[in-house]
Amino acid sequence: MQQIHLHDKSFYLYITENQIQSRLATVSQEINQHYEGKELLLVVVLKGAFMVAADLIRHLNMNPEVSFIRVSSYQSDLKSSGKVREMLGLKADVADRHVLIVEDIVDTGFTSTFLMDEIRSKSAASVNMFSLLFKPKNLKKGVAPDFVGFEIPPEFVVGYGLDYAEKGRELRGIYRLKDEEKEFE
Ligand code: PRP
Repeated sequence: MQQIHLHDKSFYLYITENQIQSRLATVSQEINQHYEGKELLLVVVLKGAFMVAADLIRHLNMNPEVSFIRVSSYQSDLKSSGKVREMLGLKADVADRHVLIVEDIVDTGFTSTFLMDEIRSKSAASVNMFSLLFKPKNLKKGVAPDFVGFEIPPEFVVGYGLDYAEKGRELRGIYRLKDEEKEFE
């Protein structure tokens, strides 16, 4: 079992580079079919999704445009999510465009729901979400992403764009905190 150390913690290989690349090849065909004959705008959510977006886009065959956004959030006791979110950096005009938001992970669903509502409110023709990882057991708001790489249990994961205190984004595979002695099947 391949093990790495980031800050004070040990992580164990969970989803290999090959498994990620093979799944991206498959799920991108679903995306190609869904958007056949349409113009697509990918909206990539920084920072975590930068790596999966770079690999995903090379499988897409509709010459998509790409835009990058960030979500800033700060604590608030007033909202049920405990956070007020703001979408930053969207330069593209999304009105009447088909938009696919690209995320690395959907956990509670608060961020993905917020982003989909924001982009819908700007009169996009359609808004869908791709997420490399999805934790169905943690979902508190919204629905499952339209396109999912891997459904995973509610454990802390790192690698392939995802960080632990800003470390580990460069890893080619995805690692988890707990050693289950079993890789993704
Ligand atoms: C992650 C991920 C999503 C969000 C998902 O971002 O990229 O945007 O968390 O969580 P949720 O479903 O519970 O809302 P993060 O805040 O870790 O920022 P980063 O991508 O810049 O590391």
